[in-house]
Amino acid sequence: MAFVKKELKDLAVNPFTTIGDEWFLLTAGTPENYNTMTASWGAMGVIWGGPAMTAVVRTSRHTFGYMEENDTFTVCVFPEEYRKALQFCGSHSGRDFDKAKETGLTPVELEGTTAFAEAKLVFVCEKMYAQMMGEEHFTQPEVCEKWYGKDPMHKMYIGRIKAAYVQE
Ligand SMILES: Cc1cc2nc3c(=O)[nH]c(=O)nc-3n(C[C@H](O)[C@H](O)[C@H](O)COP(=O)(O)O)c2cc1C
Repeated sequence: MAFVKKELKDLAVNPFTTIGDEWFLLTAGTPENYNTMTASWGAMGVIWGGPAMTAVVRTSRHTFGYMEENDTFTVCVFPEEYRKALQFCGSHSGRDFDKAKETGLTPVELEGTTAFAEAKLVFVCEKMYAQMMGEEHFTQPEVCEKWYGKDPMHKMYIGRIKAAYVQE
């Protein structure tokens, strides 16, 4: 099995099930210095004339610093057998654990950033836009209260999808 680069239009991906049900690992940095976390919120689509991936990261995440410091990030989607690994990466911080060591996932260099060898689908994304969410922008205050009443806000990152890889 090896990563093979694909045209985005040749992928059969449903963003609702891929993001919302399968989840993904959001990763920034190099294999020597990266962090990764599980995410199940985000968007896949088209903006500014090209394909893009949006991820949202609460400022309290260790991954937040890596998203700030790096120009690229990856979105890695895994076969169902890695659900436990994703649960671990979504409930423990890279501040306290070496997530690759704990889960057995293998970080690999891909286009100058980091992906995981076990992923079935990888998007390599180039940060184009980053913006903090703000209470004043919510048109439904109850949504803000529900999600940010106690927890820190998300920062939104829109990345141009530079490349997509699948395992073949
Ligand atoms: C299924 C699932 C989805 C998650 N989605 C997000 C998300 O979209 N954005 C976010 O900031 N945190 C999300 N989290 C929480 C982070 O993955 C979690 O806080 C993680 O431990 C952060 O790790 P870090 O401190 O190493 O960055 C999710 C967790 C799970 C289990």
